[in-house]
Amino acid sequence: MEHLKIFRWLLDVDSIWPVPIGASKSAQSTAHWATVKATSHALALLTDGERAKALRFYRPSDAKLSLGSNLLKHRAIANTCQVSWSQAVISEGANKKPCYKPVAPSCKSLEFNVSHHGSLVVLVGCSGEDVRLGVDVVKMNWDKDYNTVMKDGFEAWANVYESVFSDREVKDIAGFVPPTRGTQQDEIRAKLRHFYAHWCLKEAYIKMTGEALLAPWLKDLEFRNVQVPLPASRMNASGQSGSDWGQTCADVEIWLYGKRVTYVRLEIQAFREDYMIATASSSLEVAFSAFKELDVERDVYPFQER
Ligand SMILES: CC(C)(COP(=O)(O)OP(=O)(O)OC[C@H]1O[C@@H](n2cnc3c(N)ncnc32)[C@H](O)[C@@H]1OP(=O)(O)O)[C@@H](O)C(=O)NCCC(=O)NCCS
Repeated sequence: MEHLKIFRWLLDVDSIWPVPIGASKSAQSTAHWATVKATSHALALLTDGERAKALRFYRPSDAKLSLGSNLLKHRAIANTCQVSWSQAVISEGANKKPCYKPVAPSCKSLEFNVSHHGSLVVLVGCSGEDVRLGVDVVKMNWDKDYNTVMKDGFEAWANVYESVFSDREVKDIAGFVPPTRGTQQDEIRAKLRHFYAHWCLKEAYIKMTGEALLAPWLKDLEFRNVQVPLPASRMNASGQSGSDWGQTCADVEIWLYGKRVTYVRLEIQAFREDYMIATASSSLEVAFSAFKELDVERDVYPFQER
């Protein structure tokens, strides 16, 4: 597997397929948004079912993420498996994990996984069938989260998630002491970032297996020594690195049923101020490429559609 590499793509849909002014507040907002030329052009690249799914979202911001997700999946299949856009059919595997089923055993295959949150869509992929992948992007909602923590306290916040995290994880999250002292707001922000790092890592892992929330071992999967990646603004002393990418942390300990898991590659990277992206791979042998930020016109749309 030495020749293989896991590619990682990021598409920010914030400035593409713009929402007409006032549309986001109307009851017909997604339908209205779909009539904009740039949007209808992109929606036409999806299958009827994919388009219908995207248009079922009430808010255009969610419809955009669904549109971006499907476009990235088609592009990844077409590129990796060397098939045309229309042959790049997205199927569902066990537990509805999206996958690609080659038309013949001799044809190329692809393992991939997608996540979206805020205005970001991320896809990780690898040619072949040897590796299983999971990805998760989270965006901290500072205003909402801060108010909840101020109202109920951080322990109550952590206890809400006791069905997902192990007892030790809940304790780690509730009792996290930020490495640097600051204002009360700084401390809450650091604790929330620590919680989101735990969440993002667990999601990436359960999405890799495909069992997702159905995994009966959710509480038996435990992350220890979770490091919180620094946001992009803290990457150098002046905060002027100029890049959206923050720190990457890859030394989390994975435990399952009390035994150390050493066969999974898991890393988490900060993006801008409030995003974190975790990637999980079932192979230690295949390296992760750096995330590539895609331009929808240049990198995603099929050639004849540009
Ligand atoms: C569906 C689920 C896999 C991820 O949902 P999510 O975190 O809300 O959303 P994400 O954006 O990260 O992932 C959505 C993508 O996961 C993929 N997906 C769907 N089912 C999947 C499965 N069984 N395994 C892996 N990936 C799956 C899809 O590509 C989907 O995007 P699409 O519909 O545009 O194709 C599932 O875990 C879930 O519902 N999670 C809710 C959050 C939660 O409670 N997490 C607790 C663990 S910390």
